[in-house]
Amino acid sequence: MKPIPLPPLAHTPAPYTGPSAESVLALRKKYLNPGLFLYYKKPIMIVEGKMQYVWDDTGKRYLDGLGGIVTISVGHCHPHVVAAANRQNEILQHSTTIYLQPNVALYAEKLASKMPGDLKCVYFVNSGSEANDLALLMARLYSGNYDVIALRNAYHGGGASTMGVTAHGSWKFNVPQSFGFHHALAPYPYRGIYGYDDPEAGRKYADDVKQVIDYTTPGKVAGFIAESIQGVGGFVVFPDGYLKHAYAHIRAAGGLCIADEVQTGFGRTGTHYWGFETQDVIPDIVTMAKGIGNGAPLAAVVTTPQIAAVMAQKVHFNTFGGNPVVSAIGKAVLEVIDNENLQANSLRLGNHILAGLERLKAKHKVIGDVRGKGLMLGIEFVKDRATKEPGKEACAQVVENARELGLLLGKGGLWGQTIRFAPPMNITMADAEFLLAVLDEAIGAL
Ligand SMILES: Cc1ncc(COP(=O)(O)O)c(C=O)c1O
Repeated sequence: MKPIPLPPLAHTPAPYTGPSAESVLALRKKYLNPGLFLYYKKPIMIVEGKMQYVWDDTGKRYLDGLGGIVTISVGHCHPHVVAAANRQNEILQHSTTIYLQPNVALYAEKLASKMPGDLKCVYFVNSGSEANDLALLMARLYSGNYDVIALRNAYHGGGASTMGVTAHGSWKFNVPQSFGFHHALAPYPYRGIYGYDDPEAGRKYADDVKQVIDYTTPGKVAGFIAESIQGVGGFVVFPDGYLKHAYAHIRAAGGLCIADEVQTGFGRTGTHYWGFETQDVIPDIVTMAKGIGNGAPLAAVVTTPQIAAVMAQKVHFNTFGGNPVVSAIGKAVLEVIDNENLQANSLRLGNHILAGLERLKAKHKVIGDVRGKGLMLGIEFVKDRATKEPGKEACAQVVENARELGLLLGKGGLWGQTIRFAPPMNITMADAEFLLAVLDEAIGAL
């Protein structure tokens, strides 16, 4: 492959003096849970990050096209976020919600200001799984019903309840975890039964939600949970109108609608701040994690005061949720998104890249589909465009090739057939051109 120069950068990383990648791998094998998985035939060890770039232990720089799995929203070690964390780390690192603490209150006010409708009541937790677990609890308590409808091809976490609503066999252990959870068709225009050419696809896929309610539940449900664009599932964008129709069926059966914004929130989709807004709906409960903290362990459940009131029936407590340091970080992240117009940047660069991906699709037959919104873009590989047999091997090899060329990418989809590009939202046009050139080279080298 011919080398492609990364955009120039003034930053020089500190020389790495820690343990070698080989010894870290040996320690990991000996002491860390074997369930953890690594990308790449030769694992990469990231030792420094600056905005949209990271460096490995050898000093090689990469464009971080996956953002630590859609988590670095505003850039690695963004100075405004680092300063906020440092200030708070010096004063008070922890208190808990049993005492008053200014950061959590000020942050909740700012986060609520970003939400539409009556979604103004925030509960902070530490991870997306925890947020979704709490959202499911609230939906069940508020509705008085038990059954929850989720979607095939969904990922909502690895906890007991969130593994149940997740619908990729590879993430589901063989233990009882799906009681009360039912999965409707994934509204997946490329692979599903209603394609891009069907203007009614949104409504038709939503009809399956109604069928699942009618056939598999008592007719009353606690709620519905869906990502606004399926993330782990390979950046699957729902057809227009899907959530509107699905929400109508759920609400008619007494349920609440939960939007999992763990990957799609905070301006990443470009046209809107929240992914659900691209479908013109207002959920009853919204869960967020990943990009909310730009790498800090922070997550949240936002709902209406009326629904949130169900939590006051009993004692519910979370040791770290709303911790003063992560609250300072979360507020700083919101400020950066506003001050640096990162939503608009996601839209401009996302559109530019998507147009480039369409050109790559026209050139390379292994690409079956390109899709996405803003800086959440997927490239699905196939062995054959007619049969759509998943191109898992091609996808894996392109990810390997891109790494060699200085670009980190993610994989998604049931078979690992889809490349996921979700970089920090501050990337530049030069990064976009680098990405497209690397992909062209990496795919051409198959
Ligand atoms: C859409 C979505 N929801 C929930 C989760 C779970 O979040 P966490 O890994 O923080 O528990 C993830 C994680 O990848 C996710 O992508």
